[in-house]
Amino acid sequence: MNEYDETKGTNLPDPKEIEREINEFLANKYGNRIRVMGTQIGPWPGAEEFGGGTTVTTGDTSPIRFDMKPAELHEYLDRFVIRQDAAKEILATKICTHFNRIRYYHEHGGLEDREGIGRIKNNIILIGPTGVGKTYLIKLIARKLGVPFVKGDATKFSETGYVGGDVEDLVRDLVQEADGDIEKAKYGIIYVDEIDKIASSGNVIGLDVSRSGVQRNLLKPMEETEVDLKVAHDPVSLMEAASHFQKTGKRLKRTINTRDILFIVSGAFNGLDEIVSRRLSRKGLGFGAALKEKEDKSKLLREVKAEDLIEFGFESEFIGRIPVIAVLEELDEQDLYKILKNRYSSVVTAKKQDFKSYGIDIRFSDGALRRLANMAHTEKTGARSLISVVERVLVGYERILPSVDVNRFTVSEELVERPKEMLEEIVENELHPSRTTEFDEIDRVEKAELLTELQKRHQEFEHHFGKILTGWALEAMVDAAVRQGVSPETMYKRYLHIEQEIQEFEREFEKMYNLKIRFSDEALRELVRLVLNGSEEALIVCRKIFQNYHHGLKLVMERTGQKEFTIPEEAIGDPERFLNEMIQKTYR
Ligand SMILES: Nc1ncnc2c1ncn2[C@@H]1O[C@H](COP(=O)(O)OP(=O)(O)OP(=O)(O)O)[C@@H](O)[C@H]1O
Ligand SMILES: [Mg+2]
Repeated sequence: MNEYDETKGTNLPDPKEIEREINEFLANKYGNRIRVMGTQIGPWPGAEEFGGGTTVTTGDTSPIRFDMKPAELHEYLDRFVIRQDAAKEILATKICTHFNRIRYYHEHGGLEDREGIGRIKNNIILIGPTGVGKTYLIKLIARKLGVPFVKGDATKFSETGYVGGDVEDLVRDLVQEADGDIEKAKYGIIYVDEIDKIASSGNVIGLDVSRSGVQRNLLKPMEETEVDLKVAHDPVSLMEAASHFQKTGKRLKRTINTRDILFIVSGAFNGLDEIVSRRLSRKGLGFGAALKEKEDKSKLLREVKAEDLIEFGFESEFIGRIPVIAVLEELDEQDLYKILKNRYSSVVTAKKQDFKSYGIDIRFSDGALRRLANMAHTEKTGARSLISVVERVLVGYERILPSVDVNRFTVSEELVERPKEMLEEIVENELHPSRTTEFDEIDRVEKAELLTELQKRHQEFEHHFGKILTGWALEAMVDAAVRQGVSPETMYKRYLHIEQEIQEFEREFEKMYNLKIRFSDEALRELVRLVLNGSEEALIVCRKIFQNYHHGLKLVMERTGQKEFTIPEEAIGDPERFLNEMIQKTYR
């Protein structure tokens, strides 16, 4: 049992606050050369965010999904990740099994029985070149399952664990990532990149010894060990512990067991294909000795076995604790194009949103996406180069357009080819007719595609949101999603929230003035459209539009006895006029 609960309810200062104070103190004394840093790697991803390709920070920490089925996870990954079918299949399956197995053990007699079964954790090794989706896949999975996730680098580990850092630090990071919730951190995912760098090469003796040492250090945590959460060399934790001791007179002892933490290691493993090739040709399995072509390379890697990894330089005990191997393929130009084309691609979406934040709408033509993919492919860093290529083309636009009167433009093939010249042209003559039609056409196609996709997925949405949008509501939602470059999931959530707030406004109005108002269907549509494309909350918008209505409606009520009013569409556009007309009618 850990004693974590002891700390609940006591007024321990927030570690972040301490960190800030210490840094202020250090900055005063030494300038900005020395800092204390928390180990948080990124914000807790809004847990099961339902497919949102864009970041919605919901802030809530939803429960871990222990009941996910492999097919559901696979389908989710398919939505975001291009190619990598073999990796998606095996990751979805083995990771789901990992969590379902934990649930099963809990339901059937708990922890003691496990040992007898001689369980081996489904730790995973990911093999693949840079920028093909290794980290991306694992992040998506962690988000979908709602488990905390941390990423570290094997090159930072040292044999003693003190110089650099060690895997226990990552376990502690996991607890931070779970906002201090050890129960949640126990089921987290630890991802260790560049694992190939701790393979011993057989050449440099000194280095080799320490690399095998690093491998050995990983053995226990990967299997099961108790990690002390009190970090001796971290001033923030020290102060936390000291304060605890002061308050309770007890030593703060918190530990976390790594039994259910899933370890995923990854690396590019250059040269591994040759090891596989040698083994296969030794066995006369039809692979020639000199297979160097890309196609053949990934074909070879698909045949990777534990013995190849051992020959690569890993201890057999280490490899023995990683039973699952997943190989990712290189991405070709067509794959890069598909990544850009995918509405969940963060590259294009992020750019759209960057411009949107200046009030500028952008659309990418198909030709532009093909050209960008082509340029990125020559850089040989997988999908990573997509970001830099898009940046390079658009950075001038991002700098200049916010200060001139341009509120939309199309990233066309021509623009990708000659960004400088086109920028000048756009600045001088934004409403160039051909450009405008191109924009509208892309816009129309994007909306139509999204509508079709959502109609296909309507059951999924109904299941998830408990409500299905149809007709104008669906169209308005799609329109806003495309316009703002956010995922339909995010917009769906927003839509439902707007609807709730409008109802709340109706209730509030009735309660305050004892008058019932109802919006006609057309009025509701107009109101929703206004709010969806604006930046204010629906409740605020309603209060503003109808701020004078209670006076007017009271007058009408006094003259006619009418207590219920239907608000038509025209009242949204010109509330005063509609109200005046209604009042005038009562005088006729
Ligand atoms: N197969 C893919 N499908 C869609 N997007 C991808 C794919 N691969 C990479 N990306 C995009 O590229 C970005 C970088 O990829 P990622 O971080 O997964 O690379 P990696 O394989 O971990 O590379 P490295 O070995 O350099 O860490 C991702 O955030 C994602 O946006
Ligand atoms: Mg990575």
